[in-house]
Amino acid sequence: MCGIVGCALKRRASDIIYGGLKQLEYRGYDSAGIATLSKGRISIVKRQGKVEKLENCIGELCGNIGIGHTRWATHGKPSDVNAHPHAAGKFAIVHNGIIENCSELKEKYFPDADFLSDTDSEVIVRLLDKFYDGDLLNALKKVADLLTGSYAIVVICTDYAGIAAVKYKSPVIVGSGADGNYAASDAPALAGLCREISVLEDNDLALVTQDDVRVFDGNLNEVSRAVRPNLATPANLDLGGCPHYMLKEIRESPYAIANTCAVFHTAERELEKICSGADRVIITGCGTAYNSGLVAKRYIEQFARIPCEAEIAGEFRYKNPIVGENTLVVAISQSGETADTVEAARLAKRANARVVAVTNAPYSQLTGIADVVVPVAAGPEICVAATKSYAGQIAALYLLANVLSGRATDFEEMQKISRLCKETVENTDISAIADMCARSGGVYFLGRDIDYAVALEGSLKLKEVSYIPSEGYPAGELKHGTLALIDENAVAVVVITSERLAGKTENAVEQVLSRKGKVAVVTGLESVAKKLKDRAEIVKICDCGEYLSPLISSVALQLIAYKTAVMLGRDPDKPRNLAKSVTVE
Ligand code: AGP
Repeated sequence: MCGIVGCALKRRASDIIYGGLKQLEYRGYDSAGIATLSKGRISIVKRQGKVEKLENCIGELCGNIGIGHTRWATHGKPSDVNAHPHAAGKFAIVHNGIIENCSELKEKYFPDADFLSDTDSEVIVRLLDKFYDGDLLNALKKVADLLTGSYAIVVICTDYAGIAAVKYKSPVIVGSGADGNYAASDAPALAGLCREISVLEDNDLALVTQDDVRVFDGNLNEVSRAVRPNLATPANLDLGGCPHYMLKEIRESPYAIANTCAVFHTAERELEKICSGADRVIITGCGTAYNSGLVAKRYIEQFARIPCEAEIAGEFRYKNPIVGENTLVVAISQSGETADTVEAARLAKRANARVVAVTNAPYSQLTGIADVVVPVAAGPEICVAATKSYAGQIAALYLLANVLSGRATDFEEMQKISRLCKETVENTDISAIADMCARSGGVYFLGRDIDYAVALEGSLKLKEVSYIPSEGYPAGELKHGTLALIDENAVAVVVITSERLAGKTENAVEQVLSRKGKVAVVTGLESVAKKLKDRAEIVKICDCGEYLSPLISSVALQLIAYKTAVMLGRDPDKPRNLAKSVTVE
């Protein structure tokens, strides 16, 4: 996904756009660019690399109207020429999404044209230039009707003293502030600028001048969209003295747990209704959201004793799934914008399933589809690697499983877990293990049952911020092949929180040690720590029982990933090749 910002102000636009792009860099940072309109002329600066590459050239951009873009490359490699904005004739545009029929449009409308870039987005501005007859809104609508795929487009035109936007499947919000009016991909871009925002719906268009914001539906009828508080504020976007958002957000995990529990009551009644009579549960998500779904699967099967599958959204939506009106589909997504998860939820809705969203983004595409939304109250998560949102998801899913099973939730217990999580964040020393990982050729995260689900999450965290090859694996499976990879260069991080399974998992520890592999053990069990302390690096966490242990053990694994990345000189907040939410398929 990419980040886009546009504004029509009573003051110079370029530095505001630059600041907005900096807040959206988690959406992509392969290249960036800004275009402004002044005295009927459009000026553009764009560079490969992070937004900061623009800092020294925004001074040349005059004008109070402008658009900006920070890119996560999909079509066309990261380069100056493929950076947005793209321009043609009277127009410049920025685009987030994928134009799936780009080649057909080029073939049909511009068979002989030489496109400047390799991007799909450039065809949009060429079409605008082709179809524009003086009416910007109609031209934008006409072009949008030709596009297949997903798009959030913001446009400037030399004939128009403002910006225009159109939205389909990729997010656009609009907002009004003291200095004028805005459009952007996400709320952080408008932190400190707009206290309230409105979320455009699919096929909406908007005309934004310094004096007003007008929204139109797909039939060009003027409409008004709900006004909501901008949850992103300069305070919660501030690093708070931390060197990276990743560390700040790991430290916020205890509050994510407590706050998610505190707001759960807002969904509880609706959840009880939609859960009543469900005879099967399918949990779906991507990446970390899928990993938290694996933990939820165990909760639901253990507490409610009804069949529950956890499905990777990108797989679920293409396998002609067996879903009916008594199926409860739980779609998990921090951003609420992940294309595969959103489409999986849409598929479930079409099949008349009961759809519940568990998300940290209350005004997202996913919440627009779901029957019931269970809020994760983790606050804006800027680091590409999910940390506090994972903690919030686990807490929310634990409470959801209690509703499904009719179990009463002990909120005192959840408050205690929040405090134990805080202690873990503050007191866990993982330096030795991070050093082991940083020097290793590969790191294997092992566990059984719920610890296996957490091991998968630990492996994903390490991979995405340190770039060290890693795999999460069931401890009992190691001897069925993967053990062949274990030698003196390998490190195994073994999660053991269940008294019930400790002995069996220790077998995997012995197998790794006997092949000269190095072992780190994350455990809440004194007996395990005592037994292995001379032959493995031990991370002793508090013992909170196997079911809530992910809220503690995951923090240790996140800290290991973070520290390893920093040791290797990586940027844990903006890992290479990645974006915070993948709004394309
Ligand atoms: C996790 O650290 C990654 N950022 C990634 O796997 C992420 O969890 C995945 O893309 C799903 O994002 P979502 O929760 O916003 O849907």
